[in-house]
Amino acid sequence: MGELWVCDNKKCSQHLPFKADATQPGSKGGVDRPGGVSGRLFSHLFPGCSLWAWLQLVATGAALCVCAQVARVCWRRSRLRCFAKPPTRNWLLGHMGIMKSTEEGMQATDQLVQTYKHSCSWFLGPFYCLVRLFHPDYNKPLLLASASITVKDELFYGLMRPWLGQGLLLSNGERWSRHRRLLTPAFHFDILKNYVVVFNHSTDIMHAKWRRLVAAGQKRLDMFDQISLMTLDSLLKCTFSYDSQCQEKSSEYITAIYELSTLVVKRQHYPPHHWDWLYWRSANGQRFRKACSVVHGFTTDIIQKRRTQLLHQGATKSQCVSEPGTRKKVTDFIDVLLLSKDEDGNSLTDDEIKAEADTFMFEGHDTTASGISWVLYNLAAHPKYQERCRDEIDSLLKGRETEEIQWDDLTNLPFTTMCIKESLRLHPPVVALSRQYTKDMPVPGGRTIPKGTISLLSIYGTHHNSEIWPNPEVYDPMRFDPEKSKGRSSYAFIPFSAGPRNCIGQNFAMAEMRVAIALTLRRFRVSLSGQNVRRLYTLILRAEGGLLLDIEPHNPTGPATPT
Ligand code: HEM
Repeated sequence: MGELWVCDNKKCSQHLPFKADATQPGSKGGVDRPGGVSGRLFSHLFPGCSLWAWLQLVATGAALCVCAQVARVCWRRSRLRCFAKPPTRNWLLGHMGIMKSTEEGMQATDQLVQTYKHSCSWFLGPFYCLVRLFHPDYNKPLLLASASITVKDELFYGLMRPWLGQGLLLSNGERWSRHRRLLTPAFHFDILKNYVVVFNHSTDIMHAKWRRLVAAGQKRLDMFDQISLMTLDSLLKCTFSYDSQCQEKSSEYITAIYELSTLVVKRQHYPPHHWDWLYWRSANGQRFRKACSVVHGFTTDIIQKRRTQLLHQGATKSQCVSEPGTRKKVTDFIDVLLLSKDEDGNSLTDDEIKAEADTFMFEGHDTTASGISWVLYNLAAHPKYQERCRDEIDSLLKGRETEEIQWDDLTNLPFTTMCIKESLRLHPPVVALSRQYTKDMPVPGGRTIPKGTISLLSIYGTHHNSEIWPNPEVYDPMRFDPEKSKGRSSYAFIPFSAGPRNCIGQNFAMAEMRVAIALTLRRFRVSLSGQNVRRLYTLILRAEGGLLLDIEPHNPTGPATPT
C-alpha cells in the first residue's frame, strides 16, 4: 500500500508522511500494534484515546449487537413453537436450500401442504424466521390487515428495489396509500372499456405472425415468447399510447425483464448475495445492473416522449378523461401519472413516475402472459374443454361482420372464464407473496405470528390445498361453476391476492386474458407438443425451456379473420 496521508499540522510531533505497509516494521498484516504506524496515525486523529481502547470498544459493541440479534431470534423462534416445524437440514442452515423454484420445489410445496394442511414455521439459516401459510382461514386475517400495519419485507421484495424503486408493489405506509389513491382512477371501467380494442388489435398482430410461421412450416411455438410480446405490445399502447411494434422486432427490453426476474430469484436463493457490497461486485450483480439500465432507459425514454406530447397538446386532466360513448382521447396510464395531483395539489415527481411505470410494465405484462400461456396449455391438455370454449366463442360471434371481442362480450363467455379461473388456480402466475406486520397477528387455532416475522403466503399452496380443492392436481373448470363455488371462502382463490393490497390491474388482466383466449381459440387449435413440462418459478410461473405448444389454424365459418 502506498502513501496515505500527509499531516498538515507543522507543529505536530508526529508530522510525517504516514505509510501503512504490511511489510514495514510495526505492522501486522495491515493492522498495527498500538505503538505502530497506524497507532500513531490513530492517536494523531483521536488524541487522548489509544487504538487498543477503541478496538476493544468496537469489539464490545459488535459482540453486544450479535448477542441482541441472537436473543431476538431465540425469542422469536420460541414464539413460533405453536407452528409445526418441518424437518430441517441442520440446526444452522434450517430449511435453507430446501425451497427451490424448480419442478421439484413445486412438488415439495405440494407435499408440505398435504402434510401440514394450513401453516408451518420455516427457518432460513440462523436469522430468518418465517411462517408459511396455505389455507384460506390463515390467509384471511393477513390479507385483510390494514395497510398501515403491513410491510413488504425486504428479504423477498427488497431485492427488486433497484429495479422497481418505490413503486406501488414495493412501497409501504403513507406513500403507498397516496400512490394507490392517485393510480386507482387509471383502472376505472370507463377507461378499461377502451382498452378492449387494443387487446383485440395486439392479438390480431400475434395471430398474423402465427399464420406466417405456420405457412413457413413452423407449427411448434413457445407460448411465453409469443404472448409476452403481445402483452407488452398491448400494455405499451394502453399505458403510454406507444406503438413499439415489439411483436415484429426483437425486444431488448423483454430480454432484460427476463434476465432481471431470473437474477432476483437467484439472489434470493444465495444468501451471501443479499449483502449489497458483495452482490454488486459479482458477475450476476453486474448483469443485473446492465439489465436494469436497459429497462430504466426504456421507461425514461417513453415518459419523456409522453411528457413532451402532453405539453404540445396542452392537455389537462379533464381533456384526457374519456367519456363513455364519445371519441375523445382515451386516458392512458401515463396521463394519469403525469396529471394527477393529491389533496394538497402535489404531483408525482419524475422518480416516482418512473418507479410506477417500471412496476406497471413488469407487473402488467409478464404476469398476464404467464396466465394466458398456462390457459392455452391446460386447454391443449384437455381438448374437450377447448372445444366447448370454441363453441361458446363461435356462437357469440355468429352473424357478426367483424371478428372483434367487445367489452360487453366479456360477460358472455361464462365457460371460457371458468377455464381461465381454473388455470389461474392450477398455475397461478404469482405463486406466493410475503408480508411483515408491525403488530402480532393472531391466526386460527389460538396461534400468533409475532410482529416482524415474515409471513410467506403461498398462493400456489392455497390453490393446491386438498382440504379446499378435492383432487387439486386435476384441471376441472367446473369447480368455478357458480353453484359449486357457493360457500367457498373468498381467500381460497387468490391469484390476484386480496384485501387492500390486492392487484390493481386485476380487471385489466382478466379482460385481456378473455380477449386473447377467445380470439386464439376462434382461429387456432392448440395441442400438446410432447414436451415434458417442468414448472419454473422466476418471479412468475414459467416453464423450463419455454412452454411449447403445437398450433393449427382453424377456419371458422363466419366473419373474415383479420390478416
Ligand atoms: C394475470 C395477471 C396478473 C396477476 C396474476 C397478478 C397478480 C398480482 C398479485 C398476486 C399481486 C400482489 C402482490 C403482492 O402483494 O406482493 C399484484 C399486485 C399488483 N399488480 Fe398484479 N397481477 C396481474 C396483472 C397485473 C396488471 C395487468 C397490472 C397493471 C397493469 C398489475 C399491477 C399490479 C400492481 C401495481 C400491484 C401492486 C398493488 C399494490 O400493492 O397496491 N398486475 N398482482
